[in-house]
Amino acid sequence: MAEFQINRLGHQGDGIADGPLFAPLTLPGETVSGEVDGTQLRDIRVVTPSDDRVKPPCRHFKACGGCGLQHASDTFVADWKVDVVRHALAAQGIVTEFRPIETSPVAARRRASISARRTKKGAMAGFHQRASDVIVEIPDCQVLHPDLKPALDVAKQLAVIGASRKGELSVTATLAPEGLDISVAGGKPLDGPFQSQLAQEAQKMGLARLTWDDEVIATCFPPWQPMGKAKVTPPPGAFLQATAHGEEALLRAALEIVGDASKVVDLFAGCGTFSLPLAEKAEVHAVEGIRSMMKALDQGWRQAQGLKRVTTETRDLFRNPILAQDLRYDAVVIDPPRAGAEAQCIELAKSKVPTIAFVSCNPVTFARDAATLIRGDYKLHWVQVVDQFRWSPHIEMVGKFTRV
Ligand SMILES: C[S@@+](CC[C@H](N)C(=O)[O-])C[C@H]1O[C@@H](n2cnc3c(N)ncnc32)[C@H](O)[C@@H]1O
Repeated sequence: MAEFQINRLGHQGDGIADGPLFAPLTLPGETVSGEVDGTQLRDIRVVTPSDDRVKPPCRHFKACGGCGLQHASDTFVADWKVDVVRHALAAQGIVTEFRPIETSPVAARRRASISARRTKKGAMAGFHQRASDVIVEIPDCQVLHPDLKPALDVAKQLAVIGASRKGELSVTATLAPEGLDISVAGGKPLDGPFQSQLAQEAQKMGLARLTWDDEVIATCFPPWQPMGKAKVTPPPGAFLQATAHGEEALLRAALEIVGDASKVVDLFAGCGTFSLPLAEKAEVHAVEGIRSMMKALDQGWRQAQGLKRVTTETRDLFRNPILAQDLRYDAVVIDPPRAGAEAQCIELAKSKVPTIAFVSCNPVTFARDAATLIRGDYKLHWVQVVDQFRWSPHIEMVGKFTRV
């Protein structure tokens, strides 16, 4: 079999040899053998391992597609994640300082998308196998928070009663202080008797909330999440930072950047991860595309004590960004989805806002939007990389921008 030298890791965490040829689960500097299949190497064997290669800590790693980088040392992964952001910025001609990466601990994930289906003997639940729709059971998963793991059994029980014969349930499980908040898609259609059966199951299993195809079936305990001094009940399945540690690291950086600003706008605000803690010191205007998230944030704020004023606005910031002349704030926190915030950054670049805390989950769109801000005379002072998706190629970051 031919041998190949792995030169680098791609954005998805696969090793890349000349070609380019993609070789999953390999590391730069390794010599591997394998069969070429288009742009993929198959039947890969590592001939000369890298010094950064380690024994994967999870026994499910080989089969499970949930983690892609357990074969690399923690130091390697940390350096690689920072380098991905550094290179994305360099491709836009941007050089900046990097703070030491913040990596979430093992077993910290408080939210997961679990797949489940019926089997001849009952049901199975877990993550998909790498590049496949086969489900792998993961009882000893190293990333899930111990209190989230019971969601695997919940998913199985729901598949037994609610999955169609061949279909797969997609179960979003979120750990709330009072129990599991479970939202299911892809199951049997709801009718009266099935709805009452699900409600009884939710009670038996002690779930905080069960939602089926966007319909709330039962709320046995309030599925609130702490956001600063507020308790927010997010809409079912709503976005939430993946680990409490990651959220704290992103928030700490954003609060430091915003400093003593007294009027802040939080763009792509979600349910208030940043707005509500910011409101301990500043008046905040929160803007977000999903109305139910704005409603949840508003209710959380109204029930909390000792916060400054928070106003909310449901708005599509891609099609209808806030115009430069309306950005009359001391600071902006912006946390767009993976697509970034192209239209909004064009307006920010023309604005007079002194300070921007830019939170992102995509190095490429972050670098593109950073270049727009820099062309508008902002300076990028530093970047804090946050790794809350441990062992996956996912990367989060916060950048501090001020007007020159
Ligand atoms: C990465 S999440 C951040 C949410 C929040 N800042 C947090 O940390 O929990 C991005 C948010 O942008 C919202 N969003 C996506 N597209 C949008 C758009 N076109 N206009 C406004 N908000 C949008 C999503 O609903 C989501 O809440």
